[in-house]
Amino acid sequence: MTKLSKISFSKTAAPKGGVAVILAGEGLALGSVGEEIVSSLEGGLKRVADIAGFSGKKKTTLDLVGPAGIALDRLIVVGLGKPEDLSRDDWRALGGAVFAELQKVKADAATVLLEVAGEAGLSADLAAEFAMGAKLRSYAFDAYKTRKKDDDAPKGLKLALGVEDTKAAKKAWSVAEAVADGVVLARDLVNEPANVLGPVEFAQKAKDLEALGVEVEILGEKEMKKLKMAALLGVAQGSVRPPQLAVMRWNGGKKGVAPVALVGKGVVFDTGGISIKPAGGMEEMKGDMGGAAAVVGAMHAIAGRKAKANVVGVIGLVENMPDGNAQRPGDIVKAMSGTTIEILNTDAEGRLVLADALWYTLQKYKPAIMIDLATLTGAVLVALGNLNAGLFSNNDELADNLLAAGKASGEPLWRLPLSKDYDKIIDTPNADVKNTGGRWAGSITAAQFLQRFANDVPWAHLDIAGTAFGAPKDDICQSWASGYGVRLLNQLVADHYES
Ligand code: BES
Ligand code: MN
Ligand code: ZN
Repeated sequence: MTKLSKISFSKTAAPKGGVAVILAGEGLALGSVGEEIVSSLEGGLKRVADIAGFSGKKKTTLDLVGPAGIALDRLIVVGLGKPEDLSRDDWRALGGAVFAELQKVKADAATVLLEVAGEAGLSADLAAEFAMGAKLRSYAFDAYKTRKKDDDAPKGLKLALGVEDTKAAKKAWSVAEAVADGVVLARDLVNEPANVLGPVEFAQKAKDLEALGVEVEILGEKEMKKLKMAALLGVAQGSVRPPQLAVMRWNGGKKGVAPVALVGKGVVFDTGGISIKPAGGMEEMKGDMGGAAAVVGAMHAIAGRKAKANVVGVIGLVENMPDGNAQRPGDIVKAMSGTTIEILNTDAEGRLVLADALWYTLQKYKPAIMIDLATLTGAVLVALGNLNAGLFSNNDELADNLLAAGKASGEPLWRLPLSKDYDKIIDTPNADVKNTGGRWAGSITAAQFLQRFANDVPWAHLDIAGTAFGAPKDDICQSWASGYGVRLLNQLVADHYES
């Protein structure tokens, strides 16, 4: 499939040749340049549209090849439905759908006129959102395909977006593009197989953010031993690949302002350990670092757009393997916080990694708020499927801000409860806490476990096991990995933590 090679913005004007895309509202309502283009169409637009049964309804297109009377190779008319009903999500999806249409017809260059009938022009923000949709749709994880089937597809697709205010659109895109790049980075990390991306290789990907001005520090096994991170180290001890803790700092805000902390579960592969998982579908556990990928992607977005905020990202990177040296069910470890944990199931490993990563982040960075992201439980898939991530929080304001950021960015969340009574389920006579609460309310008891390591700081936990990978393909994502969380976290920072 053709990939996007370039996006540019130009003043809305009728193109003299090549492929053009115009937008039509219901009843074939066009913008003024669209009208100008179809005015030279022999027989008018209505005639061909009637024959094709096209009336400008949402999610319909009319593809005119070599339209008679117009010096275009192709004129694609895209239905908008009622343009006033279109949300930011719709414009992003439309960018994806238009890009797909251009891929289908093997265009190597196209002009999309972003005008709406009766409007002065599409806002710069929505134009950038459209561009984001095209860019995200263009993503494919195909670096390992050495024999490409589609030999006659063009090398790349140059997209020119016609807008009213090119300066404003370019500015909006320079911000949105940094976010899209962050999403693409997160997708790449999740799609990458675990033989290629172990803890050390993943930490190097975090280190690469130095190019954007992010300060990156990597802690190895020795440093973590010194810090007494026995919960994280216990998970890693069955793997021949040593664990890493990567810390990324973006200091774009006022000096001395407490940072937003983002903490990610980075299990590069989760076999389950001695409590080994069944074989069917186990390959999906290469994506068990989706939380860490979202954090790295968000740091990329935040630094890339030079956000005026202080943000620290901390990711715990381990591999969960069965081995002669692997930890056992029944083992008791003492986390960095001093809390003792009885391990009843070595497959409940993500919370053990996060226990130490959260505590370390609290002690070292004294954040204003702390948000962790993790592909933590299969139970969240049972509850919410692929459509919402599970949100847990000890703070209503933070929870509400996240819910709003989810709506605004198109990465939705659904809040689930925490309570003293749920917390009791993970008590054990043998230690301070056990690492599983059994089958029922599995996502909640996992969150209760994490809460014990978040202390009193405003904290939220996002269980992204259903949203990080494996969701059905849609207009802006054709890849197994979605990059979920990057847009959401960027939105939260933009809305509440920038000076
Ligand atoms: N990484 C898994 C959770 C997961 C499952 C993520 C499916 C994505 C898709 C996690 O480490 C795990 O194994 N959780 C167990 C916990 C249980 C042993 C208490 C689970 O959900 O079954
Ligand atoms: Mn597991
Ligand atoms: Zn896991």
